[in-house]
Amino acid sequence: MQIQDQTFLITGAASGLGAATAERLVAAGGRVVLSDLSDRVEAQAEALGGAARALRGDVTSEADMQAAIDAAIELGEGRGLAGVIHCAGVVSVAKLVDREGNPADLEAYARTIQINLVGSFNVMRLAAAAMTRNAPGEDGERGVIINTASIAAFDGQVGQCAYSASKAGVVGMSLPAARELSRHGIRVMAIAPGVFETPMMSDIPEDAVAALSAAVPFPKRLGKPDEFARLAEQIITNTMLNGEVIRLDGGIRMQ
Ligand SMILES: NC(=O)c1ccc[n+]([C@@H]2O[C@H](COP(=O)([O-])OP(=O)(O)OC[C@H]3O[C@@H](n4cnc5c(N)ncnc54)[C@H](O)[C@@H]3O)[C@@H](O)[C@H]2O)c1
Repeated sequence: MQIQDQTFLITGAASGLGAATAERLVAAGGRVVLSDLSDRVEAQAEALGGAARALRGDVTSEADMQAAIDAAIELGEGRGLAGVIHCAGVVSVAKLVDREGNPADLEAYARTIQINLVGSFNVMRLAAAAMTRNAPGEDGERGVIINTASIAAFDGQVGQCAYSASKAGVVGMSLPAARELSRHGIRVMAIAPGVFETPMMSDIPEDAVAALSAAVPFPKRLGKPDEFARLAEQIITNTMLNGEVIRLDGGIRMQ
């Protein structure tokens, strides 16, 4: 699929990986709807000019995500929604049993699953339904969905039960979704980033960043949001990529 003149929905687009992806797709000639809970998404879209539109919304809400998809279809002027890059998500840390022997908060666990996993399913089901109505392009392709997992899906650390489970769920959905949607010409992929320099990671102390960077075999640094965006661009344009999760992590394996 070409990016030029196609329309994409990007969730979590106010910040970090989603914002970088929006910038790259606009630079490649695409049109983008930027969706995020945060009102910072409006300034982000404004900076990208006429090819971008902002819509605040919660990824766990059917009405909000349908509105974002409808906005993308309108922006596409008859071409439909070509792709979704779903980047909205939250990180959470909590031990199963704390120092005083108290069990972890069940609601906090469910909240992480709700946003990261149920939110991904919500966006994917609504986007896929819209894409089935697209006119088929080359190879009969109608759309591409890119979800954001994490290396925590595979190498979860202490305190990451909720986050790792939510991202493992995103990994687990990739193949069955790709298999099911293949008859419509819709591809499903996931990117599992290592540690990236985004606002999500800004609370990490400097010495922890240095330790994380040192743990990356090569290059010995955190990932840059545009490196995520470049992989999203490759997935969009390379039709053979389907039903797979790609680690983007410099070779790090979390301990
Ligand atoms: N930064 C990393 O190191 C890293 C590593 C692995 C995976 N990830 C994943 O990448 C994705 C993007 O992360 P980021 O680093 O760009 O973080 P970020 O905090 O910079 O951006 C995430 C965005 O998601 C939005 N968001 C949160 N909950 C939402 C909701 N319910 N509805 C709509 N928007 C919501 C936030 O407002 C924010 O703008 C997340 O899914 C994250 O788990 C990040």
